[in-house]
Amino acid sequence: MKHFIDINNFKKKEIDDIISLAKKIKKNPKKYSSFCKDKTLGLIFEKQSLRTRLSFNVGMQKLGGSVLELQSGDIGFDNKREKAEDVLNVLSQFIDCLMIRNNDHNQLVNLSKENILPIINGLTEYSHPCQILGDFLTLQENLKSIKNISVAWIGDYNNVLRSLIHLQKIYNFKLNVVIPNQIFKNYKKEFKNYINKNLNHFDDPILGSKNSTCIMTDVWVSMGENENNKKKYFKNYTVNKKIINNAANNVIFMHCLPAKRGQEVTSDVLDGKNSVVLMQAKNRMYIQQAILIYVLKK
Ligand code: CP
Ligand code: NVA
Repeated sequence: MKHFIDINNFKKKEIDDIISLAKKIKKNPKKYSSFCKDKTLGLIFEKQSLRTRLSFNVGMQKLGGSVLELQSGDIGFDNKREKAEDVLNVLSQFIDCLMIRNNDHNQLVNLSKENILPIINGLTEYSHPCQILGDFLTLQENLKSIKNISVAWIGDYNNVLRSLIHLQKIYNFKLNVVIPNQIFKNYKKEFKNYINKNLNHFDDPILGSKNSTCIMTDVWVSMGENENNKKKYFKNYTVNKKIINNAANNVIFMHCLPAKRGQEVTSDVLDGKNSVVLMQAKNRMYIQQAILIYVLKK
């Protein structure tokens, strides 16, 4: 049984295949309009979602499949009424695949280990692989070749960054993670596991973004996280025109959204000519359609 939990669980060839399928679906969506005929995707969101909800919903329907959104509390998916595995066993009689967004990555991993239903990670506190694979498609479309990818991530050490680091390990593009020292110190040990000559940490956004072909950021405080006064560490971290002008010519600006305008990014950058944020949102659908076809294929 196939799951989609984290990018670092995959070999390069498998990621290449998913990306290449997403490109084909985007080019010729009609050809794939019955690839998931008679299949049903369950969606469980334990946190808010606009983009992931819409892209899975519409994406699955465009593949000829159907979608059922389930509320964890309503179906008793909290180990109180019955064990989560027992819920999964029943779900598997009605649906073919389950996407979960929660705040407990270990629970997701454990559910996938049951091998009862293909499980897709729709974001946890640990990672957001669907986002980063979609972003990889957006990067390739804008920068033409993986060789041109040089990303400066400016912001927090969070779920989206972790998936980006997983991707970097496979494709070895240049990735500068620009994170305040006061925050980075809590992740140093984890970061060491990934370190390579193209992956570096910077504390200074201007130094870290020099000549980058992509500036990427995200909110400073993620869903389900306590603010813990951490915003004070991000002084000078707002992605503004100065940071954009310091990067490569024609740099692209990326943000998974939702954005806090005026905090991690100024409105003139978010809405400006370098920004590809809406393309990122749309590409979520093609990549997730490819992921669905991948996990549902026997
Ligand atoms: N980028 C993203 O996952 O957006 P949502 O939280 O709205 O799904
Ligand atoms: N890091 C953000 C991403 C939202 C899509 C969060 O987890 O809230």
